[in-house]
Amino acid sequence: MKTIKVGLVGLGRLGFSHAKNIVQKVPQMELAAVCSVVPEELERAKSAFNTPNLYSDYNEMLANKDLDAIMIASPSGFHCQQIQEAIIAGFHVFCEKPIGLTEDEINKTIQVIKQHPNQKFMLGFMRRFDESYQYAKELINQGEIGEITVIRCYGIDPSSGLESFVNFSKNNNSGGIFADMAIHDIDLIRWFTSQEVTQVWALGKNAAYPELDEVGEIETGSAMMELENGAMALLVTGRNAAHGYHVETEIIGTKGMLRIGESPDKNLVTIYNEHGKIRPCSQNFPERFGPAFVNEMTAFSNCVINDTPSPITEIDGLKATKIANACQESFNTKKLTSVN
Ligand code: NAI
Repeated sequence: MKTIKVGLVGLGRLGFSHAKNIVQKVPQMELAAVCSVVPEELERAKSAFNTPNLYSDYNEMLANKDLDAIMIASPSGFHCQQIQEAIIAGFHVFCEKPIGLTEDEINKTIQVIKQHPNQKFMLGFMRRFDESYQYAKELINQGEIGEITVIRCYGIDPSSGLESFVNFSKNNNSGGIFADMAIHDIDLIRWFTSQEVTQVWALGKNAAYPELDEVGEIETGSAMMELENGAMALLVTGRNAAHGYHVETEIIGTKGMLRIGESPDKNLVTIYNEHGKIRPCSQNFPERFGPAFVNEMTAFSNCVINDTPSPITEIDGLKATKIANACQESFNTKKLTSVN
């Protein structure tokens, strides 16, 4: 097999951008089918990419046996069921984060994946494919900063998206800020340290948008975590950064420290004008992580075509969700919470 035919479910904020990447930047993938419950999104994909097969029903797409793989970019509450159905129908599967919202549904999904060892499953933690994060990982592996003692992560969405998020939350379950947003940093903590999180203490506050209280969401959350070897992780997760999309990571070790994205710059341009010296910031995830999403797709197609192990598995998904859910529980109960 040299190329794979993909059926993509979900053509929203992220799904459309995945579709564009597949068509324009991943030559070993072919966007053979798309599925969405919104007719206008199907029409948009048809006119933008000339996609031959359009489906409003996911199971009808799964009946198309010309496809090799299914990509899932639907809302998080559908992921587990759609993964199981696609695997049972015989496809390789790529799924966006988080793999699922509850441990029960994830464990059932893991059983189904295990029963089909010849099909690949990969989860979309795209930050692992960002050039800067990969360089940092390489330095850590070479011992450049010694043993990691603390890792500090900021992941804050721009305020420009807050209003539409409030509306989204009225009708959808994102899983909460820890499962939806902080999960990227949780995955990075596990990836950089090669350690599991043992206990967490999480807090949160709604200040600018108290409406988030009504939909059970948090505008800004934070958590302190203990890792199994005693190292510490601190995270700040939010939806209200006035200046843009702020993703920053600091890793402190016994011999040095690394900072990735310490200022969320858009690029290398500095503007000098009547307001002084200005460094524009990146404004959204496609802008900051555009190449990482393409690398992630390439990694998925490579593991299918070359029959090599998936770089991010269902177990990574389960472990990250367990930690996120422990953070949510700690926030709800206001107690230090173990990750079992
Ligand atoms: P969205 O709400 O913009 O789009 C959801 C899409 O799913 C829509 O096209 C909708 O028609 C479709 N859909 C909903 N129910 C469906 C069903 N039953 N059958 C078929 N299609 C259905 O959502 P968004 O923001 O694109 O998020 C999608 C997923 O991607 C979420 O799980 C989210 O966590 C993840 N995500 C990941 C990001 C990352 O940085 N890796 C960034 C943004 C989202």
